[in-house]
Amino acid sequence: MTAPILVTGGTGTLGRLVVARLRDTGCDVRVLSRLHHEAADGIEFITGDLATGEGIEPAVDGAGTIVHCAGSSKGDEDKARNLVRAVSGAGASHLVYISVVGADRIPVVSRVDRAMFGYFGSKLAAERVVADSGLPWTTLRAAQFHDLILMVAQQMAKLPVIPVPAGFRFQPVDAGEVAARLVELTLGKPAGLVPDMGGPRVYRVADLLRGYLQAARRHRPIVSVRLPGKAANAFRAGANLAPEQAVGQRTWEDFLAARVGS
Ligand SMILES: NC(=O)c1ccc[n+]([C@@H]2O[C@H](COP(=O)([O-])OP(=O)(O)OC[C@H]3O[C@@H](n4cnc5c(N)ncnc54)[C@H](OP(=O)(O)O)[C@@H]3O)[C@@H](O)[C@H]2O)c1
Repeated sequence: MTAPILVTGGTGTLGRLVVARLRDTGCDVRVLSRLHHEAADGIEFITGDLATGEGIEPAVDGAGTIVHCAGSSKGDEDKARNLVRAVSGAGASHLVYISVVGADRIPVVSRVDRAMFGYFGSKLAAERVVADSGLPWTTLRAAQFHDLILMVAQQMAKLPVIPVPAGFRFQPVDAGEVAARLVELTLGKPAGLVPDMGGPRVYRVADLLRGYLQAARRHRPIVSVRLPGKAANAFRAGANLAPEQAVGQRTWEDFLAARVGS
């Protein structure tokens, strides 16, 4: 019997797609979640919380490769630390991590930066925990998923007037395509930091929103707001983009047509 692959965050947008693809290739898969789930479709679920460290040992026990997709807007370095601590004694052969494009280029130095962009600092710190874990590792930085941009657009469209950060651009990528790449990396040899993954096009935020509003047949005025701080400066300079790595195929328009237009 081969060792199972543990997918943390295997219930999330990305993780669910990773789990399905791993199952399709015939791998035994184990998922760590904070919630209780019954085993289904050959997937074993273990209940645990990476933020507190509770219940992680049984999840990592006997796992060969660990794909760390669990994440949230805060504290990903603590989750990575707790995971690595548990894994260190368990002898896994490969730790695969998903980070974000710009983690190393968006400076999170001041209170203002931290309040708005602390996520990027946290991802960079988590990357370092993975790289310093002593385990063979692979880290992929991906741009924002279409699903995230859609969720933000839907929330913003509840406002009578939508404020957007002046000068910000995004290069949304399809979560399914990121999952496919992550599975390829998971089944390959540990590769360290691999090239970034961005979607096929770079858009101004207002254009992403207009695309959504049009698909949803809604009308809202959009106003630009200039955000303060070094992190916002870096965004305006495109530090969150990977135009030379526009390897994703599915555009924002394709995604909207499938998810909102019908
Ligand atoms: N979304 C993006 O645009 C984007 C872009 C680049 C990189 N990433 C990275 O990709 C990863 C997945 O993102 P996503 O959008 O798929 O996330 P998501 O849909 O919000 O799912 C988050 C997952 O993390 C798990 N999780 C959160 N806190 C946890 C904790 N304390 N202990 C255990 N599990 C926990 C959740 O599991 P339960 O709720 O079942 O416990 C859930 O499966 C994250 O690391 C994120 O930073 C995301």
